[in-house]
Amino acid sequence: QAAQKGGYKHFMLKEIFEQPRVVADCIAGRADAVHGVRLPELDGLAAPKRLHIVACGTSYHAGLWGMGLIESWARIPVRVEIASEFRYRDLILDKDDVVLAISQSGETADTLAGMRRAREMGATVIGLCNVVGSTVSREADHVIYTQAGPEISVASTKAMCSQLTLLLLLALHWGRQKGTLPADAQASAVRGLVGLPSVLEAELPRMREVAQSLSRKYSSARSFMYLGRGVQFPLALEGALKLKEISYIHAEGYASGEMKHGPIALIDPEFPTFALALHDDLFPKVKSNLEEVQARDGRIVAITHPGLELPVDDAWVIPEVWGPLNSFLVLPCLQLFAYEVADYLGKDVDQPRNLAKSVTVE
Ligand code: G6P
Repeated sequence: QAAQKGGYKHFMLKEIFEQPRVVADCIAGRADAVHGVRLPELDGLAAPKRLHIVACGTSYHAGLWGMGLIESWARIPVRVEIASEFRYRDLILDKDDVVLAISQSGETADTLAGMRRAREMGATVIGLCNVVGSTVSREADHVIYTQAGPEISVASTKAMCSQLTLLLLLALHWGRQKGTLPADAQASAVRGLVGLPSVLEAELPRMREVAQSLSRKYSSARSFMYLGRGVQFPLALEGALKLKEISYIHAEGYASGEMKHGPIALIDPEFPTFALALHDDLFPKVKSNLEEVQARDGRIVAITHPGLELPVDDAWVIPEVWGPLNSFLVLPCLQLFAYEVADYLGKDVDQPRNLAKSVTVE
């Protein structure tokens, strides 16, 4: 096992550090500056009229992230559904609907049941999965492999990175197919994506150092709130999920603007907030949400970009890249923070209690 961990203390840490390679592998043969984006897996399939993304856990968070991009770039209406809900709903689906089943393992019982129902109703199913030959990949009409390589740690890390990469490529693919995405935006996205592995590679060691020092400061908290808006909201959900999965500290992910409708009542010096406050159109809104937290003596850690003024205790400044690609830098920070807290608290990082890598029963 030690050899398999490649010198890392845990599989989770190794898998977090594999993410630059994962992005590079996902785009190899699928996106480059000369040809743009190609997804031969979808040959013969027109851009969907309606898209339903069905998934569980981390894969569900990836789906929520993809929704914004697919709607904005390809102008396709997207619903994202938790598979265990989708499978029992009185669904409205027909042959014009496409269901995108996202599953790292390709064996999650609820996701499989959801995609089977969708197929029975005449919808086309695309499987986005990591494990080659898995049930999702065998039963879907079209399969896109995420090519993250085997993921051993129960808490999913690099698989989500690969899912985000493929969702971005899907948004570009359908945006080009429908002519809804200007050529310069396509070119910027592809250029940014191609450059991403080297940015990630350079940043990961420093991210780990910051995560380590913050973990010492915050690991005594009994509860955390994660806040994000827009494209960062699903990442706030994922940050909270990672922390609770492996450190057993309660954490809630919330849309920043929704905080005033409830969780603000919880804010006090013992209840820290982990905010995603990046340089985008919604930054002023996020900043004012954080002022509300500060006014109630809440402690705040914020992942942010250079040059932004924020009322926080700990500003975790990361480099700014192009548009939605910033999420690819936020994600490892969230993973590393959860990892360092769990490791500092002496938890079983790779095999957290009560959790399974793949949930094949209902
Ligand atoms: C389990 C795992 C999670 C994973 C979820 C969905 O709960 O512990 O890490 O996100 O299943 O798994 P899937 O293989 O369908 O992506």
